[in-house]
Amino acid sequence: MDFRVRVLILAACLLPSFVECEVRRYQFNVVMKNTTRVCSTKSIVTVNGKFPGPTIYAREDDTVLIRVINRVKYNVSIHWHGVRQLRTGWSDGPAYITQCPIQPGHSYVYNFTITGQRGTLFWHAHILWLRSTVHGALVILPKLGVPYPFPKPDHESVVVLGEWWKSDTEAVINEALKSGLAPNVSDAHTINGHPGPISNCPSTGGFSLNVSPGKNYMLRLINAALNEELFFKIAGHKLTVVEVDATYVKPFKTDTILIAPGQTTNVIVTADQGAGKYMVAASPFMDTPVVAVDNKTATATIHYSGTLANSPTSFTATPPQNATPVANNFVNSLRSLNSKKYPAKVPMKIDHSLLFTVGLGINRCPSCKAGNGSRVVASVNNVTFVMPTVALLQAHVQNIKGVFTSDFPGNPPHAFNYTGAPPANLSTTTGTKVYRLPYNATVQVVLQDTGIIAPENHPVHLHGFNFFAVGRGLGNYNPKTDPNNFNLVDPVERNTIGVPSGGWVAIRFLADNPGVWFMHCHLEVHTTWGLKMAFLVDNGKGPNQSILPPPKDLPKC
Ligand code: C2O
Repeated sequence: MDFRVRVLILAACLLPSFVECEVRRYQFNVVMKNTTRVCSTKSIVTVNGKFPGPTIYAREDDTVLIRVINRVKYNVSIHWHGVRQLRTGWSDGPAYITQCPIQPGHSYVYNFTITGQRGTLFWHAHILWLRSTVHGALVILPKLGVPYPFPKPDHESVVVLGEWWKSDTEAVINEALKSGLAPNVSDAHTINGHPGPISNCPSTGGFSLNVSPGKNYMLRLINAALNEELFFKIAGHKLTVVEVDATYVKPFKTDTILIAPGQTTNVIVTADQGAGKYMVAASPFMDTPVVAVDNKTATATIHYSGTLANSPTSFTATPPQNATPVANNFVNSLRSLNSKKYPAKVPMKIDHSLLFTVGLGINRCPSCKAGNGSRVVASVNNVTFVMPTVALLQAHVQNIKGVFTSDFPGNPPHAFNYTGAPPANLSTTTGTKVYRLPYNATVQVVLQDTGIIAPENHPVHLHGFNFFAVGRGLGNYNPKTDPNNFNLVDPVERNTIGVPSGGWVAIRFLADNPGVWFMHCHLEVHTTWGLKMAFLVDNGKGPNQSILPPPKDLPKC
């Protein structure tokens, strides 16, 4: 669409009686806020003083304008996680990838149209570790008059899961980077900002959801935690999963949800139990014994109307931290709805077949005393991504040389037994490399975990696209036999997928969005360590196949 056409549509949207789209305007003031949670007082970075931040509501086809004003001492950028940003990469948000950060005292208007998507997504800061407190829900309602493909719930609630440190999170990661070792784990998990009573801080309150008997509630679950995958359960109630990452799935019932950082899940709960109070629990999933996690369970309450405030709460046990079967059971139940109205358009013929190893490494670091002269790093295909100082998208569009190279390897530079004994050399190479794709290429990426230091589950997130998760397995991917078992009919479609610990996952997508698109592990510690890369998708030749020109207020580095 050329710029004038966009302006026309924007103008048309302002007359809601003629067209069914609207322009939604929000203002995000990024400000410090003092808060007391989990038995410590600290000052956190927030949007509009709220934790979690404000929910953005829009409908499919709406244009969303968010003016972000930075009133804190940190550079800031905001990512609209899962929004496809067709041709509007300038509004995607990852700092130094699609934009320079918004500097203190400056502002930037994110401007994007939501096309072909409806469901729950979220927004979060995409710089430093500010995401820990700078996040909130993004709810995309279906177009006016278009129903959900499941019975309409009586009520809807946003449920944001988070992770809380008693100390300042920037200090936590800076300390870790100096030492070369892993950062401290969090002190609590939160449900809508509240941990519920936890052992080392018993007086902390919890979130309460009031329900009426017989009614149906849709919970829009978001895992906004930095570093931990979570199980989610409600005592005495089954959850019917209807959507993940803003795509509809074949509904199924379960006791326990698994949700990784960067993932969203809509579930329907029927208030079909006797009056009372029921515990809601979020607890960590980690099936690598050597990796430390925060083992505290966040709790909230489902409160039936007519129940006295002091009546006891029905308890639910949480799965053990290493409950791989519970996690697998959930993941294996996910299928695209694949209806006439919402078909699963899985790419069948693949132009670019890629194998990316994801995992850790160890590099030299003379100043890292605690790490004994070395530091833990992370990589994709053994490349530890180095953040540029100019945004990649700008460098690409304005042809600024020397910012990145287009030689990101499509296969591991050295083949080894990825999930077996680690190779002798654990060091990685460093660089700012992108993998270049022509417009409309079909891509398959097999994400292969490595056992370097330890195998681990990596929730990998791709910006700019949804992908289909066509296959998954343990051990090393076998390109001869494993594709025989791919699901090319109704694989789940999402934007963030867990690479199983010591295994692999195969994803497919159509590169129909020109721009520069980040892909990284959504465990923030791994992103920091370098488990990130970017795809560069060229403009197409057609009239609506190039990235739009950069906005006038695009921040400068
Ligand atoms: Cu939700 Cu690049 O992140």
